[in-house]
Amino acid sequence: MALSQEVRARLEPDAAQIIARYPHPVGDYHVGVCTNSLCAVMGGDAILADLHEHLGVGDDEPTPDGKVSVEHLECNAACDYAPVVMVNWEFFDNMTPQSARDLVDGLRSGATGITPTRGAPRLCTWKQASRILAGFPDDQAAGGNTAGEPSLAGLKVAREQGWTPGDDAAGSGPSGSGVPPAGAAAPRSTTGNGKATT
Ligand code: FES
Repeated sequence: MALSQEVRARLEPDAAQIIARYPHPVGDYHVGVCTNSLCAVMGGDAILADLHEHLGVGDDEPTPDGKVSVEHLECNAACDYAPVVMVNWEFFDNMTPQSARDLVDGLRSGATGITPTRGAPRLCTWKQASRILAGFPDDQAAGGNTAGEPSLAGLKVAREQGWTPGDDAAGSGPSGSGVPPAGAAAPRSTTGNGKATT
């Protein structure tokens, strides 16, 4: 539906202000490289430097074809898959400089079959991702595998050992961890409500 001149005149000043808050155009695929502590030491810094060199662009600067831009990210809470690369906020885990090059080359060439390691089953473009953030969800929110084996390893051990969040209140482990300290006796058995038995 076309907007009337009156409506346009009313909306355009606000729209101009909002648009001015986002001065950097990015590529169809905005590639974020985590350079926070764990990812950095596992190779994130090397991946970021290599992508800048390979693509010939700086931070937040799209390639001439408008397909890809690169930014450095802080921790994405995916440290167990370090080093992590994101494409429009979808995870690509355990990356290397070479796999990151292959990823951006594939995105630029329009290769099919590039899918996130976890989460959404398919990649969307930056514009599609922006639309989702604006409150128009696609059909992928509950799709895919969101919790991989490394993320669940601690939970698995806790369940096997019968540890519960309440255990540390009795001094069985570091505050909030529910994990017994080094050298402690074997975990106590618990009842169904998490209370220790004697
Ligand atoms: S340090 Fe990269 S995901 Fe946490």
